[in-house]
Amino acid sequence: MTSDNWAERRVAFGPAAQDYVAGRPSYPLDALRWALPAGAHSVLDLAAGTGKVTERLLELGLEVHAVEPLAEMRAAIPAAADRLDGTAEAIPLPDASVDAVTVGQAFHWFDPPAALAEMRRVLRPGGTIGLFWNLLDDSEPWVREFTEVIAAEERASEIAPEPQPVWTGVDGLSEPERALFRHEETYDADRLVAYTVSRSQAILLPDAERAAITERVRAITPGGEFALPLVCEAWRGVRTARP
Ligand SMILES: C[S@@+](CC[C@H](N)C(=O)[O-])C[C@H]1O[C@@H](n2cnc3c(N)ncnc32)[C@H](O)[C@@H]1O
Repeated sequence: MTSDNWAERRVAFGPAAQDYVAGRPSYPLDALRWALPAGAHSVLDLAAGTGKVTERLLELGLEVHAVEPLAEMRAAIPAAADRLDGTAEAIPLPDASVDAVTVGQAFHWFDPPAALAEMRRVLRPGGTIGLFWNLLDDSEPWVREFTEVIAAEERASEIAPEPQPVWTGVDGLSEPERALFRHEETYDADRLVAYTVSRSQAILLPDAERAAITERVRAITPGGEFALPLVCEAWRGVRTARP
């Protein structure tokens, strides 16, 4: 995350919670299954937002604690989850209480040393951390144009073949492994506009600039219903016995 206004952007999502629900894609079940330990029962979905990852974990039959600091986002999380106010740096759960911690599209907003120490604290030994980012597959020309119009950071073409690990040398955590999962979701122009205006960069723009971007987005959509191609970049690591 190279943006100068990072501190402002990480807390910007609240007013766009409904656009977030409508516009953002979900996550592929294969990616979640890959990141969870065998026999998982209880999972913390950290920075749960409106519950996009939480919903998938509930579909897998898991008990979900969904931690999210912004009340407007938290209100949209399914009531079947245990919805909690909190942050990655101060997780409101006891030590060694969950089998996995998932984070969708949010690890880049955390203070990594503090957040990783907290994730390790709440995980049982053998439990896992799964970090997920949905990236737009901009190998398709209209998607590339879309990423340019919205100045997207979440571009599949930016995935490095040999990326820097999301963490390294953290006591009590294995070195993380990465996997990529291609998927797609059905969109129309309204849903793509909702995606556009749910992004922290767009939320902070003056109304007229945001309106100009949404007009450009409408102009480049393929029309009718279409598939938005995505790549989910996933990382997983295991909580080891020490410290
Ligand atoms: C892009 S949204 C992702 C939401 C959800 N995980 C998803 O995949 O749709 C980022 C979320 O991270 C939350 N967030 C930002 N900083 C955080 C922090 N330090 N601890 C916990 N959550 C944080 C924001 O409130 C926001 O809901």
